[in-house]
Amino acid sequence: MSIPRDFIDLLLTKVDLVDLIKLQVPLPKKTGSNYFGRCPFHTEKSASFSVSQPKQFYYCFGCGAHGNAIDFMMQHDRLSFPEAIEALARQTGLEVPKTVTQATKSDNLNDLYDMAENAMHYYYNQMRQSQRAIDYLKQRGISGKTAQQFNLGYAQPGWSHILDTLGQTPADKKKLLDTGLIIKKPDANDYYDRFRDRIIFPIRDYRGRYIGFGGRILDKGEPKYLNSPETPLFQKGHELYGLYQALQSNRQLDKVLIVEGYMDVIALFQHDITYAVATLGTATTPHHLQRLFRYSSNLIFCFDGDQAGRTAAWRALQVLFPLMQDSLQIQFLFLPDGEDPDSLVQKEGKASFEERVNKAHSLSTFFFQTLSQQADMASMEGRARFATQALNYIKQLSANLFQSILIEELSKRARIDINELKQQVKGKEAPKNSPPLQATTTIKLPTSIRLAITLLLQHPHLAGLIKTPLPTNTLPGHTFLCQLLETIQKSPNITTGALLEYWRGQKEEALLAKLAQIDPIVPETGIENEFLGAIKQITLSTYDEEINRLLAKAAQEGLSDEEKVALTSWITTKKSLYSS
Ligand code: UTP
Ligand code: MN
Repeated sequence: MSIPRDFIDLLLTKVDLVDLIKLQVPLPKKTGSNYFGRCPFHTEKSASFSVSQPKQFYYCFGCGAHGNAIDFMMQHDRLSFPEAIEALARQTGLEVPKTVTQATKSDNLNDLYDMAENAMHYYYNQMRQSQRAIDYLKQRGISGKTAQQFNLGYAQPGWSHILDTLGQTPADKKKLLDTGLIIKKPDANDYYDRFRDRIIFPIRDYRGRYIGFGGRILDKGEPKYLNSPETPLFQKGHELYGLYQALQSNRQLDKVLIVEGYMDVIALFQHDITYAVATLGTATTPHHLQRLFRYSSNLIFCFDGDQAGRTAAWRALQVLFPLMQDSLQIQFLFLPDGEDPDSLVQKEGKASFEERVNKAHSLSTFFFQTLSQQADMASMEGRARFATQALNYIKQLSANLFQSILIEELSKRARIDINELKQQVKGKEAPKNSPPLQATTTIKLPTSIRLAITLLLQHPHLAGLIKTPLPTNTLPGHTFLCQLLETIQKSPNITTGALLEYWRGQKEEALLAKLAQIDPIVPETGIENEFLGAIKQITLSTYDEEINRLLAKAAQEGLSDEEKVALTSWITTKKSLYSS
């Protein structure tokens, strides 16, 4: 991670977690310094979701969701780690600093983003000057407003319009080349425009930056659509056309409709169906899905009703299966033969189209329908083959509830005993990405170490009481305790939430989150004594270790003079510590 640690610390001191969460989740109850509300991460009637102001840490006693401000942005707004940092920085008016290597790289990138935006403006202005292009959009039913919302443009016929306009210097030519807007002639130091006599569909990323272009031919011809090649800005398998506009038009995306074409997204949008996105002439990839899951847990895939559409839907299902989670709802919508969302919504309007959307097949219906169509369900052998095929998919699932539902459904359809099916699924290897929380929390730490860590996490200021480094020993967790002390001593005002940030993605993460919220039943006034008591215990065991080691050596091979002095000194120190 190239975001400097200091910046993350600073950012977390600027954000107030209670304010941040209150913007999105009501927290009507307050007990001490803790705010309570209904958890946004699971459905519940009571208020199990607590947010601690001093700790800058939230925890749900119902579902275990927990974390600091960064975690909240990641979990609630479904952002990636860098995106969460960026969002918080924007809210607090800070700018995410760039590390040196990142700076040179992103300076180049910024140049390319600028060039792509310039090109968008260029094509957009050309559109306004071309009656032929305007007529084409009219004839396809696109209003001026929609054309503007999607920044539709036009590339004139000819070989060097954008080249001559935006590629005056060699450096600009290089940028045009790197954004895929011009193509180098083979065997010559010369270039020509990629898009000629085409309607231009600028492609924006989720943040609205221009990253690529699609160009549609106005008359008949091949290829119908020409897209930007893969460039540093544009990876087809990651990007979704219309996502930016959908995010802009909806405070929250309750559902997302995934369609095939640029024109589908645009026509739906014009009919006030503002939650459609299109993959860019590629099949759906895991990247697409992971991005969409950040914004919505309800995805509806829209396909042609013909065989090609069903094959494409099955391919999407195969990508989806390993990514399925219980919280997701996935549906499949098949359109009448010969129609696409563009033609259909123009023909029948918003209400009828949304009625279709509401009646989309569930993932499991589509799954079993497809498999049973390939099998002779009337014979026992046919049903057994059907079950084997289905189980191959069901085994891939790490979503437990969804898996049980499919097994139950399979048992009914294949008329096979459910326990037998469960047995077969159990034989699978453990799911790869199950959370390690259970395993790590069972690490046995000596009571004193555990208590010291817990108190430090919850009241980082306690670290100020320790003036000299703890003597080393071999107790489990001791090294970690020392790291924790050092970290706090470097930033004495750090909060629990910010402290946990240091262990993001590390093996201690889950245990720490757990310790950060448990109640060690120490009254506020006794915290310092309790902490010092634990540290004393730990120090005493260090002395014991040393004393025992030296005594054992004395019994076996004898001690050197120095060791004898050390032994006496350990024993006196221990005695004095006992009586202190
Ligand atoms: P379609 O051929 O279904 O076209 O391609 P469409 O979206 O209905 O377009 P119109 O209505 O005829 O204008 C669906 C999508 O596949 C990609 C494009 O992203 C297109 O929107 N595609 C199609 C290409 O990339 N290249 C092509 O030559 C054709
Ligand atoms: Mn179409």
